[in-house]
Amino acid sequence: MEVAANRLLDAKQAVLTRRSIRKFKQEPVPQGTLEEILSLALKAPSAWNSQPWRFVVVRDPSLKMKLRAAANDQSQVTSAPVVIVLYSDMKDALERAGEVMHPGIPEAERPARLESIRASFASKTNAEREAWGMGQSYIALGFLMLLARSYGYDTVPMLGFNAAKVKELLGLPERVAIPALLPLGLRDEEGRPHHRHNLEQVVRWM
Ligand SMILES: Cc1cc2nc3c(=O)[nH]c(=O)nc-3n(C[C@H](O)[C@H](O)[C@H](O)COP(=O)(O)O)c2cc1C
Repeated sequence: MEVAANRLLDAKQAVLTRRSIRKFKQEPVPQGTLEEILSLALKAPSAWNSQPWRFVVVRDPSLKMKLRAAANDQSQVTSAPVVIVLYSDMKDALERAGEVMHPGIPEAERPARLESIRASFASKTNAEREAWGMGQSYIALGFLMLLARSYGYDTVPMLGFNAAKVKELLGLPERVAIPALLPLGLRDEEGRPHHRHNLEQVVRWM
């Protein structure tokens, strides 16, 4: 489904028409559109409002070739005009926790609140912290995929990559975690129809 520039798909239409797309048209995505999609994805919720998600937006063809090699040679990485590398950086998130405390929290309560956020991670290893950060970042990933679709774009979330190689290519510190690569562009294939468990198989009502 093509989406006119001035008409966004609503949430239901975005969910129903999103599919993993692995073959994209060779058309660039306007910078303004990417900025809008990313800005809206930042509205995703996170525990403690910690927002550990970070993004690298890759458009450079030679870098995409190298990313593809680090992603089991999956062709969607070079087919898409844009690959968003989503990573979680808990060190940065904890250091900057004060910046994103809700404005409604009284000044007097802020130091203790900040302390309790940091204390809850103090005994965790870096790997445990990043596993937690990955969980939060997947919420932003869901937002990103549906926002892209709402704007008429398509994506495919990817876990099939070598994280150490991707970090090296992008100059990311070893401590961060990478929940997903997300090729993004206009679809040049239909993708597979949804094939899902039904409600009875996955929901219990009590
Ligand atoms: C976290 C995650 C990782 C995935 N990794 C890959 C991947 O590396 N390569 C790929 O082609 N598809 C990947 N997929 C896409 C799934 O195969 C796809 O979402 C699923 O089959 C459902 O199809 P649909 O997205 O078209 O509805 C991944 C999906 C998720 C959510």
